Amino acid sequence: MTLKKSASLALMALAVSFFIGCSSKEDRDKYDQWYGSGSKAREESALVKLQSDRKAAAEASDKAKAEAAAKPAAAPAAPGDTSAAAAPAADAPAAPPKRKPVPADVSALLNKHACFACHQAYDKVIGPAYSEVAKKKYTPDQIVELVHNPKPEHWPGYPPMAPLAHVPKADIIVIANWINSL
Ligand code: HEC
Repeated sequence: MTLKKSASLALMALAVSFFIGCSSKEDRDKYDQWYGSGSKAREESALVKLQSDRKAAAEASDKAKAEAAAKPAAAPAAPGDTSAAAAPAADAPAAPPKRKPVPADVSALLNKHACFACHQAYDKVIGPAYSEVAKKKYTPDQIVELVHNPKPEHWPGYPPMAPLAHVPKADIIVIANWINSL
């Protein structure tokens, strides 16, 4: 206890002496330079830099505009140049991991039965993404059975899904048909 106490006292003394040391000596000059007389000069130079930065940015955007304006004029002159046409086409194949929005009726059922709490259409949450379930190519009847009596061994690495026996078969059929459309 005494050791702890003296250690903390020593720490406090160190902190205080550090504080006094900082606020008294040469640091005074530094302080003045930043907050006193020196600050005015710094503000001025910062302002000058700000203005020149703005000017540079404005010039850059003017240049970009001028280039953009020049391009359409140049394009018809060079029909062989496909670079402009190829660019949007090259973007298109990158998009395909297509994520279709969930239809409103299916979304309502997934909400009503809280399936959304553990499943998303394309992302793993607690349960597998429905797009992954779709790969198993279950029939709608099999999906009804699996919701009522889950088989966790189908999904190693996932926690077991609780049996949801109260969910009406007709609702699961709608969900199942949608899952298989993913
Ligand atoms: C508490 C979380 C949770 C909820 C709520 C939940 N699931 Fe699951 N689901 C899981 C987990 C975890 C798995 C994977 C392990 C398993 O099958 O037991 C899974 C698996 C599935 C599978 C794949 C079954 C298989 O054997 O391949 C289907 C289909 C499914 N869920 C549909 C649903 C539907 C429809 C609902 C809503 C009525 C629902 N789940 C609600 C967690 C949940």
